[in-house]
Order: sequence, then structure tokens, then C-alpha cells
Amino acid sequence: MAGLVAVTGGASGIGAAVAEAVREAGGQSAVADLNAGARATRLDVTDDAAVAAWMEGLAGLTGLVCAAGISANTPSLTAAPASFRRVLEVNVTGSFLAAQAAARRMEKGGSIVFIASVSGLVGMADRVAYSASKAAVINMAAAMAVDLAPRGIRVNAICPGPVETPMVRELHDAATRAAWHARVPLRRYAEPGEIAQMALFLLDPARSGYVTGQAIAVDGGFSTAGLMP
Ligand code: NAI
Repeated sequence: MAGLVAVTGGASGIGAAVAEAVREAGGQSAVADLNAGARATRLDVTDDAAVAAWMEGLAGLTGLVCAAGISANTPSLTAAPASFRRVLEVNVTGSFLAAQAAARRMEKGGSIVFIASVSGLVGMADRVAYSASKAAVINMAAAMAVDLAPRGIRVNAICPGPVETPMVRELHDAATRAAWHARVPLRRYAEPGEIAQMALFLLDPARSGYVTGQAIAVDGGFSTAGLMP
């Protein structure tokens, strides 16, 4: 894979798997995360000046994967306003700021991939903020795809089902895991690398050059399943 791919939230989980997959495919990755690590530059995606400064330093940028995100328990009747606002700020505004700054740097076209969620396609219990944020990200991909098409920039969203990552290990208890297993036709969680392979496909113009504005579920069949045995 040619060019440089920026990955937000790349210190952990899906973002880390994307950065690794890009390197394995022969590309270069630039990783930023709230948690600085061996490979990650420290960046808060909600800080617009910091996001712009980080992108300024990335010459030859051809790809961006926005994997930085947070979840929170936000039941509709009791969710705290601050919690609701923070989830939208990181997941929606943070993704937008990175995408806007990246698009300005993609002088020869490129590909932007948002990591949305099946939570943006259907309603999830106790996740009103997260679900609202991911639905917003899905439409943001469609709207930015229209705006950026004249510049040769494609914009798509991946909607993962449950993925074995630190976020999920913190949030999913045994009952939640059982509920997912009961509703996913493939009867398992995804590995982060399986989401990364879809990101690689969307980043590569040789494979997905006519794909833009789409929300693609990588969810073991969850979002399309009806009655299951
Ligand atoms: P994770 O918690 O392992 O990784 C998320 C990373 O984002 C962390 O390294 C964290 O430090 C970083 N981050 C959080 N806030 C940030 C900020 N303000 N600025 C910069 N970095 C920030 O979680 P995971 O599971 O890898 O999630 C990645 C993305 O995939 C998220 O957007 C999440 O909503 C989405 N997703 C995850 C699913 C899952 O089952 N794990 C399912 C569907 C979507």
C-alpha cells in the first residue's frame, strides 16, 4: 500500500490493529492517541488546534482512519448531560476535526475511514449517547463524501459489531456477552484485525476506488439478522 495513513485512537484496540495492518501491507502509519505510547503521538482529537498541527506535520498523507472513540453508560432517563456531551464531542466532533484537517492535507486525493458502529444503525439499551454519536458519524461519512469527491477523496464508515478490545473488556459483563452471542449469527465477537482488513480495503483505491459515502457493517450478520434459531 502506497502513502501515509494517519490513525487516531491507534494506541489500542481497533486503531492499533489498523496501524499494524497498514504496516504489514507495506504502507506507513502515523498514530495519535490520548494515551501516548511507543508508536503513538499524544493527541486529543477534540482539540482542533492540536489536530491541525499534527496533520500539518504529515507529508504525503493519503489515508485517515478515525478510531478514537469512547462509550458510556447513558440510559435515556438518567444519562448525565455532561456524559452525553462528552461522547458526542469525542466520537462526532473529534472524528470531524481529524477528517477536515486530513482532507486539507490530501493534495492528491485519498481515503477517510470512520469507525462508526452497529450502534449507529439500531437502538442499543442504555447507550443513547453512543448510538446517537455513531449514527451521526455514519451520515457525516455520506455528507463529507459528497463535499470531498471533487478533490478525489473518498469517505466511508465501518460499522463493527462486538470486537474483542480493551473498551469491550471493560464494558461487557457475562450477561452482555451472552446477549451478543445470542444475536450474532456467527456466534462470536470479531478480532480487531478483522475490522482492520475492511479498513485496508477502503483505504486502497485499487480495491475500493468507486466506493464512497457508504456505511459497511462488519458484524457477523448482527444488523441484518431476523429470527434466529
Ligand atoms: P479502545 O478503547 O481499545 O481504543 C480507543 C482508543 O481511542 C484508546 O486508545 C483511547 O485512548 C483513544 N481515545 C479516546 N478518546 C480520545 C481522544 N479524545 N483523543 C484521542 N484518542 C482518544 O476501543 P476500541 O474498541 O478499539 O474502539 C475503537 C473505535 O471502534 C471506537 O470509536 C469505538 O466506538 C468503535 N467500535 C468499537 C466496537 C467494539 O466492540 N470494540 C464496536 C463498534 C465500534
